[in-house]
Amino acid sequence: MTIQRYLTYYCPRILTISKKYRFLSIFILSIFIFLFIIYNIHISIHQNTQQFDDSISYKKSLNLLHKQKVLVPVSINRLYDYQVVCTGNNGILNRTNLIHQISTICKINLNGSLKINLNPTNDFQIRSSLTLKYVKLWKTFNTCSIFENETIAIIISYRDREKNLQTLLYNLLPFLQRQKIFNYKIFIIEQQTSGAFNKGRLYNIGFYHIMKIYKPTCVIFHDVDLIPENDQNLYSCLKLTNHPLHMSANVRFKINGSYTTIYSFLVGGVLTIRPETFILLNGYSNRYFNWGGEDDDMGLRFLSKDICVQRPTTGYYYAGSHSTQIRNENRFKLLFDATLRQDIDGLNNIDQLARVTNTYEYPLVTWITVKWIDKYSSIS
Ligand code: BGC
Repeated sequence: MTIQRYLTYYCPRILTISKKYRFLSIFILSIFIFLFIIYNIHISIHQNTQQFDDSISYKKSLNLLHKQKVLVPVSINRLYDYQVVCTGNNGILNRTNLIHQISTICKINLNGSLKINLNPTNDFQIRSSLTLKYVKLWKTFNTCSIFENETIAIIISYRDREKNLQTLLYNLLPFLQRQKIFNYKIFIIEQQTSGAFNKGRLYNIGFYHIMKIYKPTCVIFHDVDLIPENDQNLYSCLKLTNHPLHMSANVRFKINGSYTTIYSFLVGGVLTIRPETFILLNGYSNRYFNWGGEDDDMGLRFLSKDICVQRPTTGYYYAGSHSTQIRNENRFKLLFDATLRQDIDGLNNIDQLARVTNTYEYPLVTWITVKWIDKYSSIS
């Protein structure tokens, strides 16, 4: 259709205007349309860059290269030097304001360093109804209104670590009680498939399932052997920006030993994250079997999506002992092109790899068992 015919059809009146004015009105209209398009582009770009930048500055690591439009590590030998923590003061999260607020409004006395108990009593058996007495002791208390709009899922990946789990829960429940965090559920995601352990898959299938049954607003991925030693390390997403919180930067392996930060790039151990951020990252990789690498892969996912992590000043943990695990010697190879796979390996293909076989509700925890359903299930 020519412009003339188009105008005759849609706005016949315009043809009655003289040619000069007709041109002028079309010109003005085009300017409006042009400005409208520019405005919308501006808004959408602005929204994208604002998504993770609310008040946080972050200098993207220089150690990443663009390959097929994705950032990949220059050299895996330098991986442990990469910067995943937000720059300068933004990297450290000081929650004293929030702690002060909850202490005045909800009368909570959080003193900082905490004495943990490594010897749970004999009747503290996670799957037994005997623990009801502990639920009464630790789960019914005066709640703090500050946390009331938040729903927290603590997700623990698990296989064969009964003693570690028992000790963790024996300390974690009174720890949450001290913080007056009540709107939480603890989920144990147990790998039933024998052979190699795969933490990334357990976290993904756990998250996927929990989002359907519980709808948390805050998720905490938790290693089974790490016990929090500072009660000011709040298990909450409150007042966080969209940046995830690496809770366990300081770990000690002996009860009277000193704390170490294993390396600055580390995001494993205990990680607090909003579900929408986890979805944007496409969760963890499903490809890391045995010990190591899935957390470093997550660190690279952060970098490639331009998300830096923050660390609370109060992130101190004791790491319980257990038998040594088989190392994943393949992890460096996988890490090298981790970011190239990010959008096809993770949450969005977990339903083809793993299946929830059962869910048990115990007084202390929700216990979810999982099996692999793909060919890798025989890897050991
Ligand atoms: C592994 C990580 C592990 C870290 C600290 C790294 O070599 O790849 O998965 O968390 O060591 O122990």
